[in-house]
Amino acid sequence: MQARIRFFVVAALVGGSLLSPIAFAHGDVTPQAVDVSTLKPLGDQKRDENPYRGDKEAVRVGTSAYNQNCARCHGLEAISGGIAPDLRKLDIDKETDIYFRESVLRGKVRNGAVYMPPFEGIMSQEAIWAIRSYLDTRHEVEAVAPPNPMAALAKKSNCLSCHAVDARGVGPAYREVAKKYGKDKNAEARLLAKVKKGGSGTWGKVPMPPMDAVPEDDLKALVKWIMAGAN
Ligand code: HEC
Ligand code: HEC
Repeated sequence: MQARIRFFVVAALVGGSLLSPIAFAHGDVTPQAVDVSTLKPLGDQKRDENPYRGDKEAVRVGTSAYNQNCARCHGLEAISGGIAPDLRKLDIDKETDIYFRESVLRGKVRNGAVYMPPFEGIMSQEAIWAIRSYLDTRHEVEAVAPPNPMAALAKKSNCLSCHAVDARGVGPAYREVAKKYGKDKNAEARLLAKVKKGGSGTWGKVPMPPMDAVPEDDLKALVKWIMAGAN
């Protein structure tokens, strides 16, 4: 079941991104050119180790390249909402550098399903290593960040197979939901009922299934958390 939901999410994401770019309110859909003119040129030969590790300018370029090309699936600030792996967890070593490079160049395609598009010919080697340099800085941050118990509850309750905090997945981003209803005092009760029963039509045609297998107290806490901005 878990695997099927995941496939559905990815199919919807990738299919949706090709057919109707407007459906994604957050983040760019077409690959964005990355200006690497301020970085040391690397030539054509593929590097096996990040040549920019610790370079401040590479981190700056990589931050913007990541936000434009990767964040819509891997999450803003590399905090994954569950749609794609959390890239903060990648180890920082040569073996992982090679794995990272090949993942980005080839994308992730299995049995004809495009989980992640290939960036070969679209993204320069300089841009790939700049993004890796940015992700290194996120890796350090995660090591000291306290776990977020509400995000963990959302994950356990299966909400994150369709929702992310900041990016649109199958369902709306939680921050969009908070923004839409923030001033409405009755929204919490209404949303609780909707999550229990499921439904569609507010954000699009795709329905949310009834989530009534999740204990009511958990659903209440989750809706409260979402309405408070899902922090
Ligand atoms: C359309 C959504 C999408 C976009 C855009 C995307 N990815 Fe991915 N990425 C995925 C998914 C889904 C997976 C997991 C695929 C799988 O299950 O094999 C993945 C896997 C990866 C992995 C392997 C992670 C691991 O833990 O094994 C890396 C590295 C990666 N992506 C980097 C990037 C970078 C860097 C960018 C931007 C240049 C990017 N991705 C853009 C969806 C995306
Ligand atoms: C299988 C996918 C899926 C799962 C799992 C899921 N949702 Fe949703 N959710 C959606 C979709 C799709 C919508 C948009 C429905 C619409 O357009 O009316 C949505 C909408 C919402 C909304 C906004 C409703 C509105 O009327 O504006 C909230 C709040 C929400 N979901 C919370 C949750 C919570 C909490 C969970 C976990 C307990 C969860 N969702 C699990 C797909 C899902």
